[in-house]
Amino acid sequence: MNIIISLTVSFLAVFGLVVIAFVGVWGAHLEWLFGVVIPYLAVITFFIGIVYRVVQWAKCPVPFRIPSTCAQQKSLPWIKYGYAEKLDNPVNTFWVVCRMILEVLCFRSLFRNTRLEFGSGQEIKYKSAKWLWLGAIAFHYTFLIVLLRHLRFFTEPMPFFVKIIENVDGFFQMFLPTVYQSGFILGAAVTYLLLRRILDGKMRYISLPADYFPLFMILGLVTTGVLMRYVLKADIVSIKELTLGLVSFKPVVPEGISVIFYIHLFLVSVFFAYFPFSKLTHMAGVFLSPTRNLSNNTRIVRHINPWNNPVKFHTYQAYEDEFREKMKDAGLPVDKE
Ligand code: HEM
Repeated sequence: MNIIISLTVSFLAVFGLVVIAFVGVWGAHLEWLFGVVIPYLAVITFFIGIVYRVVQWAKCPVPFRIPSTCAQQKSLPWIKYGYAEKLDNPVNTFWVVCRMILEVLCFRSLFRNTRLEFGSGQEIKYKSAKWLWLGAIAFHYTFLIVLLRHLRFFTEPMPFFVKIIENVDGFFQMFLPTVYQSGFILGAAVTYLLLRRILDGKMRYISLPADYFPLFMILGLVTTGVLMRYVLKADIVSIKELTLGLVSFKPVVPEGISVIFYIHLFLVSVFFAYFPFSKLTHMAGVFLSPTRNLSNNTRIVRHINPWNNPVKFHTYQAYEDEFREKMKDAGLPVDKE
């Protein structure tokens, strides 16, 4: 699909959502719909959707070992099989778990990303390419921190670790309200991930609205969140009344919450409802990926496809028993006279 169309469709979709929430709350006063009904529906869709996807994946048959490996498999005792090999070609569940932890927490395979470059003449060089890894780490960790900090809206009293995160995240303490760096780093990281798709020709070629839409959504979330905290100053006490009402299943919609909050909440709701049906489900999928969650023990265990069709064998001996006389008549050699 043409890049201009993909970008425009994705941007307009997010912009359209902002307009819908604005008109719905500011024009039509549908605070209940945007503050209670839609968030509940979104959470229900999120959980049902994720469970559905995970069950679908779990039901997929995986008859063979297909882990992706980058090192020597465990083999004869005199062939080196050290810690590096154990991690990259895990022979048992313990090393699979170790590899998975590094993958999920440190994005290890992305860290080892390389870029092919042509040197002078026919020379080919593989250069380390760490920017994507850095952008991805910054994006995912700041997203996590922002989400954890949001727990203060849903808990009373708030858990001790939220206070610690707030203190570390806002350690500059130069402005009022305290500036949380994670929100801004998140915005910068998403912008980088978006620009990478737009500016790099190869990425542009393989990018679809399904790639741009989530990025614009997250940019929309960050922009409305930042606007609400630092510029338009929403009424946090009333907002907390609403959010505590939602989690305790006694929903209330206090007066005087500004429209920007409902826009933020509507984007969050659509984001969560969309999550299970999009590429964002890789969050759950990584654990169910047979290229990652299987050990490589193909030299130790013989894996037989459990639903192989039974094959009717006709051995040479049986064949010879059947045709011995005819074979002898034709002058063919036989094993048994
Ligand atoms: C994917 C989920 C969400 C993301 C990525 C997100 C992102 C953000 C960001 C970046 C900010 C700017 C300030 C900061 O860094 O904390 C913010 C502020 C805010 N968000 Fe969210 N948000 C999300 C979900 C929610 C939800 C579910 C609610 C409430 C129901 C909410 C309510 C607020 C409020 C009230 C503020 C203003 C905070 C303040 O003034 O201290 N957000 N959000």
